[in-house]
Amino acid sequence: MTNKSHYNSGLRKLVQQRRDCIEHSTAVHVEDFEKTYHALYTQDAVEFLKILPNSSVQLVLIDPPYNLELETWDKFANYLEWAKQWIDELYRVMSDNANCVIFGGFQFQDLKQGDILEVLHYTRHNTKLRLINLIVWYYKNGMSAHRYFANRHEEAIWLSKTKKYYFNLDAVRVPYDEESKRAALRDKRLIAANIEKGKNPTNVWEIGRLNGNSSERVGHPTQKPKEVIRRFVRALSYEGAVVLDFFAGSGTTGAVCIEENRHSILVDSDSSLKEYFNKHLQKLDTTKGKPFEVLEQIRITEYLNKVRTK
Ligand SMILES: C[S@@+](CC[C@H](N)C(=O)[O-])C[C@H]1O[C@@H](n2cnc3c(N)ncnc32)[C@H](O)[C@@H]1O
Repeated sequence: MTNKSHYNSGLRKLVQQRRDCIEHSTAVHVEDFEKTYHALYTQDAVEFLKILPNSSVQLVLIDPPYNLELETWDKFANYLEWAKQWIDELYRVMSDNANCVIFGGFQFQDLKQGDILEVLHYTRHNTKLRLINLIVWYYKNGMSAHRYFANRHEEAIWLSKTKKYYFNLDAVRVPYDEESKRAALRDKRLIAANIEKGKNPTNVWEIGRLNGNSSERVGHPTQKPKEVIRRFVRALSYEGAVVLDFFAGSGTTGAVCIEENRHSILVDSDSSLKEYFNKHLQKLDTTKGKPFEVLEQIRITEYLNKVRTK
């Protein structure tokens, strides 16, 4: 039986457009700019969102508490009631081509309510946000278990505000190994130039978690690897875009934004964000990124004026 996935009309149109060198309608042309700005706030996420103007960010990238009771900030009487407060603000603060990534995990040990599935269900049924992908972040290192299968994945949901969301696949393609590259080049349905650029990383990402002595570590208990954040930042935002992380933790998102020439807004209720972020700054890859400026507790309207002024 024919594999129908190759006969998807939308996909065929996109492939033809690429062959004809026609730009996709969501392409963005970035004007040159001198430096990036990174604003830090010690504030509750919901309070911060309420003062953020409409359509002010192009990527929201958040790693909220997972409701696993790992830390004092990770305990909730009713997780979803709490999460609804920030979910309800997302659509408003996103620009029309914006994306939103929410990390999470599944509750698999007891009857406690609230996890990424409930966040996804609420978002789909109660907001205008559109689900684009559910990404499975798979890793080989983790805790063992005796009464259930040891967990080796976390999830991230990718939502957009409209159909005109920004997506740059070329920025995150992964190289083919020699054998699969030869096979791909023989496949007439594929574009040779794209094969040279690499393949789609798919929605299952194998990236190691940070172990205790990783050189990336800055001391935050739930720090995410830069590689995971970088893939989202590169694919779902463009240079000069404003990226918001209102559960910033150590500020990993901001560190990646500096290296990738995006502006960032980092918010955390814990004032240790500042110290952790300084440690990230000491470890930055200095071969990457434009000059940058870190601003603390700046008025949000002043910050947005700065990033809009080239
Ligand atoms: C999972 S961690 C984020 C870690 C981050 N991705 C990193 O790589 O460092 C979640 C963060 O949310 C913060 N947090 C919890 N409740 C918050 C709230 N209501 N408002 C703002 N931040 C909050 C916690 O202090 C914690 O640092």
